[in-house]
Amino acid sequence: MSQTDEPSGTRRDFLYYATGGAAAVATGAAVWPLVNQMNPSADVQALASIFVDVSAVEVGTQLTVKYLGKPVFIRRRTPEEIEEARAVALSELPDPMSQNFNNPTTDASDSNRAMDEAGEWLVMIGVCTHLGCVPIGDKSGDFGGWFCPCHGSHYDSSGRIRKGPAPRNLDIPIASFADESTIKLG
Ligand code: FES
Repeated sequence: MSQTDEPSGTRRDFLYYATGGAAAVATGAAVWPLVNQMNPSADVQALASIFVDVSAVEVGTQLTVKYLGKPVFIRRRTPEEIEEARAVALSELPDPMSQNFNNPTTDASDSNRAMDEAGEWLVMIGVCTHLGCVPIGDKSGDFGGWFCPCHGSHYDSSGRIRKGPAPRNLDIPIASFADESTIKLG
C-alpha cells in the first residue's frame, strides 16, 4: 500500500492535537510557502488523498494534520461557535468569497464553508493568507477563531479574515466525509 493511500490510523505520527494555547503557540511562528499552495495538479491531487480518523475529536477541539506539506485544521465546533459564525452579515466581511475549493464560486456565508449542513465540522488550510504563518487556534483573536501572531490577522470562528493584513479567508481544501468518522482530504 502506498503511503498516500494509508488510512490515518497507521500514520499517527502525522497527527497531533492543538487544543491548548501552548501547543498552538509553538507552531505559531512557522511559515509555509504560499506559492501554488492550493493548486496541486490533478495527478498530484489524486495521488495525495489521505483519510483522517476524526472519531476522537471532541466538540470544541481541533485536530491538525499535515497534508501536501501544510497543516490542515479540522475543527469540531461548538454550537456557540456555529451560531457566532452564522450571525455575521456578509457586509461585515473583508473577503466575501467562501475560498472553498469544493465549491469555489460561493460566498463566504458560514454554511458555504462548513463541511456539514449543521456546521459542526470546519476543515481549513492552516496557513495565514498574508505571508504564510500558522495561525493560533482554540478561539483565539478578537473574533473567537484564529489569530496570526506574525502581523496580527484575526479570523473568526468560520476562518474568515475580520481584521489585519491577511487578504483572504483561510482556504478550504478539497475534503469530504468518507464515512461518519473519516474525512478524506483530496
Ligand atoms: S503572515 Fe499572518 S498576518 Fe502576516
